[in-house]
Amino acid sequence: MVCLGNICRSPLAEGILKEKIKQHRLDWEVDSAGTGYWHVGDGPDRRSVAVARQNGIDIRAQRARQISPKDLDDFDLIFAMDTSNYRNLINLAAQPDLSEKVHLILDLVFPGEGRSVPDPYYDDQGFEGVFEMLDEACDRIVERWNKL
Ligand code: 4NP
Repeated sequence: MVCLGNICRSPLAEGILKEKIKQHRLDWEVDSAGTGYWHVGDGPDRRSVAVARQNGIDIRAQRARQISPKDLDDFDLIFAMDTSNYRNLINLAAQPDLSEKVHLILDLVFPGEGRSVPDPYYDDQGFEGVFEMLDEACDRIVERWNKL
């Protein structure tokens, strides 16, 4: 799960997908990272922590890190939160077989529409909506890939 800072959107996506994996008893490894480096080592934004907690998910133990090219080898699926993250990941992937792993996460909910999860960093009211979008997207991820 990849966003810009790895403190708002992708920590929520990581926490939500991990919860669903537990419910479905899937043996998946999930992690998140940012394309930017500014928040490396920081915990999730308190507004993400709050909306996760309201939905029964504790994301406080997560720490931000920056995506590295190795992640594109190590993980089978990479989900970008917005089109800017998506473009950066495609550039990082460089090879076609690696770029095939990269998906815009809301394409799972709105196929082919190229929608982005809005960056809620400057929008206190945005976190609830972000949670709901990511919750639905993570349901679609489990439906689509749980046969692997
Ligand atoms: P995120 O949100 O990409 O969802 O973690 C942001 C967090 C921090 C910044 C931008 C977006 N920032 O500019 O510091």
